[in-house]
Amino acid sequence: MNGESSPRRYFDNAATSWPKAPSVAWATQNWLKGISASPGRGAYEEVRHAASLMDRCRLNLCKLIGAETPDQIVLTLNCTDALSLAIEGTCRSARRQEQSIHIVTTAMDHNSVLRPLRDLEADGVRCTRVLADPRTGLIEPDAVMAAIEADTRLVAINHGSNVSGSVQPIDAIGTRCQEAGVPLLVDAAQTIGHRHVDVDDMGIDLLAFPGHKGLLGPLGIGGLWMRPGMESKVAPVRLGGTGSRSELDIQPTTMPDRYESGSHNMPGIVGLDAALQWIEAEGTESLYQRDREMTAFMLERLLMIDTITVLGPTDPENRCGVYSIVTENVAPEELARRMETHHGILGRPGIHCAPAAHRTFGTLDSGGAFRLSIGPFTSIEDVEVAADGLAKETACSTQFAIPA
Ligand SMILES: Cc1ncc(COP(=O)(O)O)c(C=O)c1O
Repeated sequence: MNGESSPRRYFDNAATSWPKAPSVAWATQNWLKGISASPGRGAYEEVRHAASLMDRCRLNLCKLIGAETPDQIVLTLNCTDALSLAIEGTCRSARRQEQSIHIVTTAMDHNSVLRPLRDLEADGVRCTRVLADPRTGLIEPDAVMAAIEADTRLVAINHGSNVSGSVQPIDAIGTRCQEAGVPLLVDAAQTIGHRHVDVDDMGIDLLAFPGHKGLLGPLGIGGLWMRPGMESKVAPVRLGGTGSRSELDIQPTTMPDRYESGSHNMPGIVGLDAALQWIEAEGTESLYQRDREMTAFMLERLLMIDTITVLGPTDPENRCGVYSIVTENVAPEELARRMETHHGILGRPGIHCAPAAHRTFGTLDSGGAFRLSIGPFTSIEDVEVAADGLAKETACSTQFAIPA
């Protein structure tokens, strides 16, 4: 096959989704063409309009996660920014109260959690990283419970792994955390927009999410939902102008201004709001159902290829649409190159910002894996082309071939 003429087939939705929801480009462009004013910075009509769009975006986010108070949604730059606020804000608040700090996370978490924690360890914060099952990448809720100590201030865990797609039993973990009285921070980077996420059903206190992956908004937007009352346990980490209470040189305590200093990414917010409206019109249940079906279909196709290993659960019920593939025949970087060149398949090789997850699967020291991840616009044909391409590229290797 001539690679240059192959259609490009996007399988990197775990990094950021593409295509975006159909309305996103128009909404963002339309916003930028008009008087694109900054909410809270002025009292004229366009400023009020900007504020109302931002309010609507928060309301739509609330509806999606089963929350009730839009002001508890703090808009951030991305999921990393939201996780950083939750983790560092928790430590800042505990330190002010001269409390010792212990945090529980897992080996399946992303560097957006692991790196801030590693840095905080240098300042005396103690961390426990709960190990996962090396075949499935799943975490036992009882193991999380066993890791909790008297001064545990936070349990931070990702819902869906960006390496193996393993979907953790958050509701069971949430119940355990509630019993222990420890706040639960969930990283929904790989599940929001793909899977049902309900902050009450799951016992979540802090929900970090990107707006640019499963929610189909533009890059540069994300959020942190905070259960009412968590403000007393999470200090702001970025302080400054909010457009409110300008007469004071102290940070406002009202939500969400307490955490949202500086001008907002309005093009990102408007784009995310348009995406959320599209999601609502399509119906979340039908989107989730299709995602489950495609997740199962792609898993089935990949498991039929006997030259590859797919990391993570073989039961589609325990996973989302993220598949990391390893083969003895081709290194991940080379496999990615061949899949793009010969089949137009765009995936991501390497460690995927999750070294402990790759260590769990034994792939950390061998270049990681080649990752494919699906979104709502991935077609059956895309999956067939990817699976056929993988079968072909891993069947016989030229990399290690002995010259005749
Ligand atoms: C599990 C997980 N957490 C956090 C992040 C960081 O998200 P963002 O790129 O929005 O900062 C990612 C990104 O890939 C992720 O997969």
